[in-house]
Amino acid sequence: MKQVAVLISGRGSNLQSLIDAAGDSYRIILVVSNVEGAGGLDKARAAGIATTVIPHAGKTREAFDGEMDARLRAAGAELVVLAGFMRILSDVFVRGWEGKLINIHPSLLPAYKGTKVHERVIEAREALSGASVHFVVPELDAGPVIAQAKVPVHPSDTPQTLADRVLAVEHKLYPEERKLLASDKVNLENGLAVFR
Ligand code: GAR
Repeated sequence: MKQVAVLISGRGSNLQSLIDAAGDSYRIILVVSNVEGAGGLDKARAAGIATTVIPHAGKTREAFDGEMDARLRAAGAELVVLAGFMRILSDVFVRGWEGKLINIHPSLLPAYKGTKVHERVIEAREALSGASVHFVVPELDAGPVIAQAKVPVHPSDTPQTLADRVLAVEHKLYPEERKLLASDKVNLENGLAVFR
């Protein structure tokens, strides 16, 4: 059973879906937040999962990441899952967890990397959007995609209605892919997501 750590910055609805789906293939051993009072911390505590807050104010990216790396390793994390973690990670941290670090992003990557995704999707009058689970590489939102789920974009959508529709598919997609990774059925090899 893989020991998983989850990094969050906010309400943690994806964390909750991961908690609900944990079982034979993975166990969440630690939740790390860079934001004190993030709603996801309460969700972790309610599930009896250890939590730690690492404030980032006044620290260099490398110092923050170094502290986080130490806590993840001390906890025995084997996989690190980003679930609404809204900080860019340093190259050193990403390389240290290469192939063991995944993120969920609310767009059909490689389209719409970065922030304000839903606003931009609506502005561009896209017919489809969705969510992508991908390995994290140093370049933002650019790592190999492991899985995607699509949703329609309606002409009447606001960023909020679209975000809600995307989030609903995220909640199904992430636990499934987490199980795949925990069973070593997908690996990062030479910059590609390789399935067995
Ligand atoms: C999710 O939609 C996730 O895809 C997005 O933040 C939301 C977090 O919600 N992540 C990113 O935009 C990362 N760049 P949650 O805290 O309820 O899981």
